[in-house]
Amino acid sequence: MKNKFVFQRSLFIGLMLVMSGLLIFGNTPDLPPLKKLCCLNKLFLGDGNSVLREAREMSLEYVFPPANLYLAKEHELPSKKLQSRQEAEITLTCVYDNYQVNPALQTDWGFACVIQTSRGKLLFDTGGNSNILLSNMEKMGIRPGSITLVFISHVHGDHLGGLKGFLKKNNQVTVFISDTFPESVREMIKSRGAKYVEIANSKKIVDSIYSTGVLYGPPSEQSLIIETEKGLVIVTGCAHPGIGRIVKKAQQLLGRKVYLVVGGFHHPPREVVEEFRKLGVKKVAPSHCTGDEVREAFRREYGQDFIEFGVGRIIQIKNN
Ligand SMILES: [Fe+2]
Repeated sequence: MKNKFVFQRSLFIGLMLVMSGLLIFGNTPDLPPLKKLCCLNKLFLGDGNSVLREAREMSLEYVFPPANLYLAKEHELPSKKLQSRQEAEITLTCVYDNYQVNPALQTDWGFACVIQTSRGKLLFDTGGNSNILLSNMEKMGIRPGSITLVFISHVHGDHLGGLKGFLKKNNQVTVFISDTFPESVREMIKSRGAKYVEIANSKKIVDSIYSTGVLYGPPSEQSLIIETEKGLVIVTGCAHPGIGRIVKKAQQLLGRKVYLVVGGFHHPPREVVEEFRKLGVKKVAPSHCTGDEVREAFRREYGQDFIEFGVGRIIQIKNN
C-alpha cells in the first residue's frame, strides 16, 4: 500500500516535471524567458474557455495550452520606447450621445466620439444609427472620409449599429474590433471592403493610442487610452467591465497618471467618485450610460474639472 502511494506520488511529481519542462523549454514557440516564468507563472486546470476567461479576469495575457494544463503570463507592459510618444494636443468631439450639449445635433441612445490626434482622426464607436451619426458629423464639420481608424468598444447595437452605414461612406479605414465579436461583424466589415484588426490583449493601435485589451463584462469590452503630455486620456463606450477596473488597467499598462476619463461609465455605484479621487483622476466627462445620479455626484465633487459631455461637446487638450 505504502509502495503504491510512493509510486503514485513519484508518478505525479514526474509528470509535473515533464510538463514544466515542456512549458519552459520551448514546447510553445512564444514561450517567455525562464526568469519571467519563475515569478509570473500561474497554473490553471480546466477546459480552454474557462481558463481563458479566468486568465482574462485576472488580467493575464498569454495562455499556453499543452493538453489541459495552462500557463499564463501577466500582460506585457509597453516598453519605454513605446511610452516615449505623447500627444501635445488632441481633440475629442462627441458626435453621438443621449446627452445633448449642442441643440443643433440629434440625440439618441448610444455613443460615438471622434478623436483627432497628430496621426489623424479616429472614430470611437458609431452609435446605433448611421443616419444620425453621419448627420451629426456633417453638422460638426467632420467628413467621413477624414477618418482613418475606427475603434469599436463592444458588440452592443448602440455602439456598433452605425458602423455599416459609416463604412458605406468610407471603407478606407481599419476597424479595431474585439476578438469576441461574432463572425457576422467580421463578414460585414469585409463585405464593405474595409479592413479589421481583432483585439484580445492590450495593444498599441498607433503612436500614442492604445487599447486596454478586451476585459470581460459581460459583454467583453475594450477601452481606448491616449497618452498625452498632460497624462492619460481614457475613452470608454459603456465600461461594462467596471470603470474603476478600466482606469486601473490603463494606469498599470502605461504607468502614468490619468488626466481625463470620458464616455459611458455604466451606472456605477456613487462610491466610484471617491474611487476616482483615490486613483488620482484629474478630470471627468461621464455621459451615455453613466446615470444621472452618479453624473451629478461627479459634478459636485469635481467642480471645474467636471466636463458636461454629450453630443456636440468638443474637448481640446493641449499644453496651455
Ligand atoms: Fe451603450
